[in-house]
Amino acid sequence: MTEPKKLILNLFEMNTVSHISHGLWPLPGNNRHRFNDIEYWTELAGILEDGSFDGVFLADVVGAYDTFRGGPATAIREGLQIPSNDPLLVIPAMAAVTKHLGFGVTFSTSYEPPFSFARRMSTLDHLTRGRVGWNIVTSYLPNAARNFGLEDEIPHDRRYEIADEFLDVVYKLWEGSWDDDAVLIDRENRVYTDPAKVRYIDHVGENFRVAGPHLSEPSPQRTPVLYQATGSPAGIEFAGRHAELVFTGGKTAEDFRRNADAVRDAAERHGRRRDGLRFVIQAGIIVGRTEEEAADKWRSYQRNLSVEGILAHSGFPLDLPKLPRELTIGAALDAAGLDRSAVPFLSPDTTVGAALDGLRAQREGRFFVAGTPKVVADEIERWLDEDGVDGINLRQYHSFDTARDFAELVVPQLRARGRIAERGEHPVTLRERLFGRGPRLEEPHVATRYRGGAHLDVPLERLRFA
Ligand SMILES: Cc1cc2nc3c(=O)[nH]c(=O)nc-3n(C[C@H](O)[C@H](O)[C@H](O)COP(=O)(O)O)c2cc1C
Repeated sequence: MTEPKKLILNLFEMNTVSHISHGLWPLPGNNRHRFNDIEYWTELAGILEDGSFDGVFLADVVGAYDTFRGGPATAIREGLQIPSNDPLLVIPAMAAVTKHLGFGVTFSTSYEPPFSFARRMSTLDHLTRGRVGWNIVTSYLPNAARNFGLEDEIPHDRRYEIADEFLDVVYKLWEGSWDDDAVLIDRENRVYTDPAKVRYIDHVGENFRVAGPHLSEPSPQRTPVLYQATGSPAGIEFAGRHAELVFTGGKTAEDFRRNADAVRDAAERHGRRRDGLRFVIQAGIIVGRTEEEAADKWRSYQRNLSVEGILAHSGFPLDLPKLPRELTIGAALDAAGLDRSAVPFLSPDTTVGAALDGLRAQREGRFFVAGTPKVVADEIERWLDEDGVDGINLRQYHSFDTARDFAELVVPQLRARGRIAERGEHPVTLRERLFGRGPRLEEPHVATRYRGGAHLDVPLERLRFA
């Protein structure tokens, strides 16, 4: 008999009040307002570690949502990703109280230079003993661009060109600048590191000039596990070249398969194995000990959900709650002097009322289930076996109820069905955990070409310090 496919189990988090479940932070017992406290993160990490989660995935943006109603007031009132703190900085706290939990953290390639980021990630890879992943994003908020000295957003495909070079730089630093055996810690001869095994990278490109050497010594994974979420042609090509774990935002099984196949095709174009990547979907899961309990929770989340929060998050160009329900979107756009393309995902004949109702309902889709542990586990098995999903990023409605309920009620069901990857006696790196192979990126991934200082374009006399 073939082994059942194991579930990659991630919790979807953000170092903020309201990440994607808008309007739910005031619910009784919800801890979201505690995100400034280190104990919030250590408590959460403990729940996830004990609950057999593979990782916590930390989203991030570097600007405010300020297009809905022409400013950030709605986002600010709702706690919608503002206030928000740096996601990298909570990882050491969580790492200190866990041994196995992985950390996927978001960082944008568009605004901050690669050198200091590479060093921060190497530091985290050391402190976590190889349990970090990087969610590569190029950022989509106009306000983020203005925070980093730009007038406006960099055009979408251009962002991916910059990202490609950013990746090239960090690969050179992580993989090429130091040899595996550079660090000697030789007390007798008073040699910490062998200078012959460390080198400049001397990267000179269109967007970045970076001399190196990398300041951190080689960490367990060197390059963190590379995550990416994408849907566009430029993003898919980028994922095919770089990503190891891909988030797809598909609402249906067909969306998911189309996206996953497109990324696999792109990986093949870059000489990589089609089956070398993992695909993770965002899942909404509400579990109760009885059907009634699950339904009650779901009703409470539905009742409290903030439509204004959703509209602000999506940067919706119309103030739908203030418009008559029977007005059509087309007429509303005309009245506001906006082009029809401002709302490309709705037909102009849709009424405001239907659009508002749709916004609520859209929060569910193929990858949503509410029910008893058995119903939930059956559904997750369907996603794994029928849809070809490799894992879930569990959306939080309530912190910590969502994670705790899943750990206490669903994980035992999944474990009994052989769907949970059991941990060995010794902790392993995140890459080993997710792929069941070694801690380092495997050839022919593009990063591996720099190992040993190959392909660095560095003049010979600068290649080695001794
Ligand atoms: C599950 C998921 C998580 C994401 N997390 C972030 C994030 O934390 N920060 C961010 O700037 N973008 C995030 N995004 C947006 C993606 O980075 C990307 O912009 C989006 O998928 C559109 O793809 P494209 O870049 O190919 O157009 C996320 C997308 C998905 C589906």
